[in-house]
Amino acid sequence: MPSIDDSKTVLVTGATAGIGRALALAISDLPSHPRVIATGRRKDRLEELRKSKLETIEVNLDTDKNELKKFVDDVLQKYPDLDTVILCAGIQHEFTLTGPIDIDKVTSEININYTSVVTLISLFMPHFTKLATQGQPCFIVPVTSGLGITPGPPVPNYSATKAALHNFTISLRVQLQGTNIHVLEIIPPLVESELHDAEGTTEALSKFWMSLDEYIPLTMNGLRKGDREISAGGSLAALQKFEPGKIEMAEAFQKARAAW
Ligand SMILES: NC(=O)c1ccc[n+]([C@@H]2O[C@H](COP(=O)([O-])OP(=O)(O)OC[C@H]3O[C@@H](n4cnc5c(N)ncnc54)[C@H](OP(=O)(O)O)[C@@H]3O)[C@@H](O)[C@H]2O)c1
Repeated sequence: MPSIDDSKTVLVTGATAGIGRALALAISDLPSHPRVIATGRRKDRLEELRKSKLETIEVNLDTDKNELKKFVDDVLQKYPDLDTVILCAGIQHEFTLTGPIDIDKVTSEININYTSVVTLISLFMPHFTKLATQGQPCFIVPVTSGLGITPGPPVPNYSATKAALHNFTISLRVQLQGTNIHVLEIIPPLVESELHDAEGTTEALSKFWMSLDEYIPLTMNGLRKGDREISAGGSLAALQKFEPGKIEMAEAFQKARAAW
């Protein structure tokens, strides 16, 4: 089974904090020593990662398709052997739906968590198709959430963006079946990070979250086995309870469509 151990160059979005940062560092420590490109907005964090021998690119993903195209063109010009993208950047907002809500925050959350991810996948696809037909396994790794399987009502739009990305990821995988482009989905549970800082819920949530020290080895194990879904804790429980049969249904749909 092709896995992250086959990757030569790996781009990680959202690598300046939390899960993305810890994964980027763990991947660069693999015995195969792939080149790792860490991205995010915060210059000081990127500088710190450069000292750990990672390559870095500053990017704001809350933007439009033209800016994202410039970013992808730049990445591919510098790293023509890029074969893996881990799409980890994300934000989370709380909304009380019984009152007025800030639609700008809704739009930005959709853009960062869903639209930019779909745009990046689409922009990288011609490159991966070329590399894959030359025999290099390629990997697209969206990071979704257990809240994409069963929603968290205090974070309704976040949950919806992750449900959308989870659903999209299944279609992507089915459409790419039989190619050398592999879709692995990381579905974290509540994990130690800065995700909840903006909403002031970090202290309360930190009583329940899985530490990065516990979470990252589990995720690296899944990436190294080439697992289709890489999950843990409460997210794994939700996956096992609510998802069985879903991918097979999607595959059957695709087969039926091909016969029309
Ligand atoms: N932690 C959890 O409990 C949990 C659970 C399930 C799923 N997840 C998912 O796991 C992923 C990582 O989250 P985390 O918990 O590690 O969060 P985090 O510690 O807050 O890190 C988020 C990362 O996303 C980047 N980012 C945010 N907005 C960005 C933008 N506009 N442009 C570019 N980069 C941006 C941040 O970098 P800059 O600020 O430097 O730009 C940072 O590196 C997210 O997709 C999240 O939804 C997390």
